[in-house]
Amino acid sequence: MVTLHSLLRWLVLLGAIAALVGYGRAVARSRMDDLAARLGSVYAMLLGLQFLVGVVLWLVQGRWDGDNFFLSFIHPLLMLGAVGLASAGAARARRSGNAVIGLVAVIASVVVIVIAVPSGSWTL
Ligand code: HEM
Repeated sequence: MVTLHSLLRWLVLLGAIAALVGYGRAVARSRMDDLAARLGSVYAMLLGLQFLVGVVLWLVQGRWDGDNFFLSFIHPLLMLGAVGLASAGAARARRSGNAVIGLVAVIASVVVIVIAVPSGSWTL
């Protein structure tokens, strides 16, 4: 489960880059398109999947003991915020046809994720 959570982060990263390119392209053309909407949804879905794997990991490892306060509480709460931003942004961008909303939401969620990733996990 740890390995899955650890591996999925790369898919999340790829998804974020793809969503940024999709929305960025749509903003540059001043026209929301299907590709941008789809890439935004895929990113939100990958993040949601990573969130679920994280919850299972949290339960399996008994992280509620708060032994590592950051990993036990701050990391999950911030990641919940990141999932909310990405999901709401993708849905609103699609509904309103406004790619700027999607672009801003992806950037904001990535900023939250960067803050939430444990400091010791940045090396390969
Ligand atoms: C949804 C976005 C999430 C992302 C992008 C994410 C990302 C990460 C990353 C990069 C690590 C470090 C992995 C490593 O060093 O190999 C990690 C560890 C961890 N995450 Fe998450 N996480 C997310 C959500 C969650 C949630 C919602 C929970 C719990 C409810 C959670 C629980 C944990 C735990 C317990 C660890 C430590 C695993 C260990 O090394 O024993 N994560 N996460």
